[in-house]
Amino acid sequence: MLEIFIINALSDNYIYLLRNEHKNITSVIDPGEAEPVIKFLNNKRWNLDEVINTHHHHDHVGGNRELLHIYKSKLIAPSYENERISNIDILVSDNETVNITGIPTKVFHTPGHTLGHVCFYMPEEKSLFSGDTLFYLGCGRVFEGTMEQMWLSLLKLRSLPEDTSVYCGHEYTLSNMKFANYIDTNNAVLNKVSLEIKKKKEKGLPTVPFNLGVEKKINPFLRADDNNFIKTVGLSSNNATESFCEIRLKKDNF
Ligand SMILES: [Fe+2]
Repeated sequence: MLEIFIINALSDNYIYLLRNEHKNITSVIDPGEAEPVIKFLNNKRWNLDEVINTHHHHDHVGGNRELLHIYKSKLIAPSYENERISNIDILVSDNETVNITGIPTKVFHTPGHTLGHVCFYMPEEKSLFSGDTLFYLGCGRVFEGTMEQMWLSLLKLRSLPEDTSVYCGHEYTLSNMKFANYIDTNNAVLNKVSLEIKKKKEKGLPTVPFNLGVEKKINPFLRADDNNFIKTVGLSSNNATESFCEIRLKKDNF
């Protein structure tokens, strides 16, 4: 059984600390900084066996160097970003299955936010680590790839089972929620989820993980091919990539 701990880092990053007690393996996903991870590990008296990265951005890899130095961990990262992430031990690519914390994990190449971004899916744990590709009610900005690549990447994630818990790279939920409510004004599920999110935020709790099945009904970026949605929110195109692009640009300027 895998335990997943959420560590807050930098201004709004999430670092995920994974612990397999049975196999005595500990891993960390996207350590944007080392210090909170070291504190956490000291407290638990655990070693750190694996460091995993979804993409090369500094707020996801900034702690790599120090953690690898202290704990002699193995670094698992996307093969596509080999030039941009130093000291990778295990390169992973699309559709491969790797063991993370001793748990079989499927790798999805999800270009768009960066060209080499990958997401990690653990079928046994029903858990997806989506980095900066899919956020709660949002998606990553398209920095390196094309809008079409990002849309296709999101479709890959959308095809996962409804009961998947999604762990994303940032706490952007409140601003994503404001945008979702702005363009999608008549969505009962979104209204209900928005109340739950507000309650969590009031208590200072993380809004992750979130459920993928619900997300498919409320995340505007996952609905660019939903004709009813497109009509309701007044998008101009019937082409999914164009609609996605329109939603992404609206959000960029929101
Ligand atoms: Fe990023």
